[in-house]
Amino acid sequence: MATINDNYLKLKAGYLFPEIARRVNTFAEANPDADMIKLGIGDVTEPLPEACRTAMIQAVEDMGNRDSFRGYGPEQGYPWLREKIATQDFQARGCQVDASEIFISDGSKCDTGNILDIFGKNNKIAVTDPVYPVYVDTNVMAGNTGEVNEKGEFEGLVYLPISAENNFTADIPSQKVDLIYLCFPNNPTGATTTKENLKAWVDYAKANGSIIFFDAAYESFITDESLPHSIYEIEGARDCAIEFRSFSKNAGFTGTRCALTVVPKTLTAKASDGSDVELWKLWNRRQSTKFNGVSYVVQRGAEAVYSEAGKAQVKALVSFYLENAKIIRQKLTEAGLSVYGGVHAPYIWVKTPNGLSSWDFFDKLLQTCYVVGTPGSGFGAAGEGYFRISAFNSRENVEEAMKRITQKFKV
Ligand code: MLT
Repeated sequence: MATINDNYLKLKAGYLFPEIARRVNTFAEANPDADMIKLGIGDVTEPLPEACRTAMIQAVEDMGNRDSFRGYGPEQGYPWLREKIATQDFQARGCQVDASEIFISDGSKCDTGNILDIFGKNNKIAVTDPVYPVYVDTNVMAGNTGEVNEKGEFEGLVYLPISAENNFTADIPSQKVDLIYLCFPNNPTGATTTKENLKAWVDYAKANGSIIFFDAAYESFITDESLPHSIYEIEGARDCAIEFRSFSKNAGFTGTRCALTVVPKTLTAKASDGSDVELWKLWNRRQSTKFNGVSYVVQRGAEAVYSEAGKAQVKALVSFYLENAKIIRQKLTEAGLSVYGGVHAPYIWVKTPNGLSSWDFFDKLLQTCYVVGTPGSGFGAAGEGYFRISAFNSRENVEEAMKRITQKFKV
């Protein structure tokens, strides 16, 4: 008789965003005339930059000619894309990242989950609370946790609370952990961090032989140039950090799919015989075996992000969403709600009014305003009493949603 991976049975409900979609669909079926505005999942709404579209159309033409046709590409990504990323995203900011250390992929969600393939089973793993749920759920699936308790915490994980009290920046743990997930600008709280804070993490990781998984999917939303875009801006990070980046939120690639992961060649971890093993080699082996690379057409689209026109168009797109975030912050603040984030991030983290639980506020907002957001408790126990609003939508929808919310929830 075939058996299953029992770890999946430990996962409480469905993944957060499909669960929200399920509730929204049920409501929509019962209320077909409700004019719903979705500010829940961080999915972009504005069209792909013209530079990317033009490059992809040309790439489709290339595929129509025997001479320029491409079959399987390199599993790690085409050198012309990796080179542009290395020079423009990293070296231009003083980070020592070589093109050969960049792995092109179809998403940071996939990479932050898949990276666990190359790590052992006995690592002590730390996540912030609240946190992007993929980090937790993929560890549960991989068997790196015990059961979930009534608070929704998985046995075996180290939860580092983040809240307004610590500026949504976790304190350095007093105990030793082996793998640490950090995400800045933060999903879900929209918080950013400083170079000093990242330096403290790098120092901690180096002193303890830990590896930091640094999720920088939202780095393009940083407008204060003194804030770090990459963990490799911190000296020593090449010896303790893997960084994840994405084209989803800056260039609107959520439906197109392209991302990247940096594994420095200087990064090692221990084999069970005590020897040091280069993680780059293991990730390269993993990707060459389980992944066939991102399509040629999509990589040409991503490459266009680095052209002069592409850079200007991406900047405009990011500014557009940041202006939405500003409007959300302003309107909710005027209505008397406590809001966080949304300055260098597309997410606004809101304290629910009148002591409502996260899911109660979700239901109220859906039923009375026809606005969809994300309950903070879906990101972890410490997210209870909070709510995430995404700035990814049209200006018209954002303004209309704010009008409806402020009318109903003035406190
Ligand atoms: C979110 O809403 O948190 C994002 O859509 C997550 C993701 O990009 O996977």
